Amino acid sequence: MSDKTIQGDTASKAPRNTTGGWLSDLDRKRAAGPFLADHASPGTGMSTTAVHAGTHDDPRTGAVGTPIYQASTFVLGDNQYKSVEDGFVRDRFIYSRYGNPSQWAVQEKLAALEGAESAIVFSSGMAAITSTVLALMDKGAHVVASSDLYGGTFNLFNQEFPTLGMFATLVDPHDYEAIEAAIQPNTQLMYFEAITNPMLKVIDIPRLSEIAKRRNVRLVVDATFAPPVAMRTLDHGVDVVIHSASKYLNGHSDLIAGVAAGPRKLIDMIWPRLLNFGGSLDPHACFLLERGLKTLAVRMRAHEESAMALATYLEGQPKVQKVFYPFLESHPDHATAKRLLKNGTGNITFVIEGGDAAALRLVDALSIPKQATSLGGVESLISLPFNTSQATFTARQRADVGIDPGCVRLSVGIEDAADLIADFENALGTIYASKDLTHA
Ligand SMILES: Cc1ncc(COP(=O)(O)O)c(C=O)c1O
Repeated sequence: MSDKTIQGDTASKAPRNTTGGWLSDLDRKRAAGPFLADHASPGTGMSTTAVHAGTHDDPRTGAVGTPIYQASTFVLGDNQYKSVEDGFVRDRFIYSRYGNPSQWAVQEKLAALEGAESAIVFSSGMAAITSTVLALMDKGAHVVASSDLYGGTFNLFNQEFPTLGMFATLVDPHDYEAIEAAIQPNTQLMYFEAITNPMLKVIDIPRLSEIAKRRNVRLVVDATFAPPVAMRTLDHGVDVVIHSASKYLNGHSDLIAGVAAGPRKLIDMIWPRLLNFGGSLDPHACFLLERGLKTLAVRMRAHEESAMALATYLEGQPKVQKVFYPFLESHPDHATAKRLLKNGTGNITFVIEGGDAAALRLVDALSIPKQATSLGGVESLISLPFNTSQATFTARQRADVGIDPGCVRLSVGIEDAADLIADFENALGTIYASKDLTHA
């Protein structure tokens, strides 16, 4: 394969230094990417983009779809040696921890979906989060973050930050005045999740971005619960958007991956952390993610259709005390959801009568949703915060974040709404017919 074909247009346009090296050239401009050549989306719609952007038919055989470049290393030619010498190794294939055509292909698709100049994939969502946060913060710096965070991110701030000389203040993500008040002279970052778990609070990202810009602080948002079909997070003024691609982006519960997307300038700052921490994504996993992404838009429509029908059904059930689904009018953030989200997601949280004992019986009585943590797969997944995601919390801590006894977390898959409703109808009927719960 010729160097021109495989190295992409970014590489061929990469600035060449005349004197002093590329890194010392203050006028340098970085092209978007790095991407393989000429694989932009032929249309602007999300489905067209999901199917075509970044996908790179095999130039040698014409095989449709990006080949899996299962290689750890690449033959070194003049181009590669020059990239090392001139400081643009990210624009050449040298070694797969640095970059691989399978990574570049899926990165181009992800960047196109997010409307970003650049994206990098990681071996997990946590690798994306850790690399991004540590790239954008110096020793001694401070982050203002949501008090409603994914547990792994909370652990990063709580367990790792003190040893790194970094500090976090956690604030209610709905209390915009407290968020601004928490900003200190050494605050470098604001870190929030677009939709929180499990209470599915929808955060006013444009408002956070206004604060961040005014106070000269960077804003990073984990949009795992709001993939690009639902929200193009960067369009709301966010600096870097992160996802656990293990969830909706891949969509098939068969892969762990993460992504960070944003302006190339910032992604180029995060990339050395990927190298240092070693969280690069294997080429086969890139293939799986790229394949999963092709159906993102249709999957999200199916998730929304089934979740909306099931949430509406659950809201009408006498034994269901509360239902949280952002597209229901009863959701406290319904207006924000309507304003920011183009599409609903599949996550519903609800509380049933009879507390956690009843919830345990419900998950056993259902036949379609699998009892498993995680979310965003084509199959419905169900779990209880009290014995999974918030198991280390005391009952009082759970109450503080709104998790009542009997709280159930459901990731609605793409199964037919009628089948899901029938399954819940049967399970609710069965558990409340039982004597113990009737008298609970
Ligand atoms: C909101 C959110 N962010 C990040 C992560 C971490 O992603 P991963 O498990 O891919 O490392 C998760 C995992 O559940 C998550 O729910």
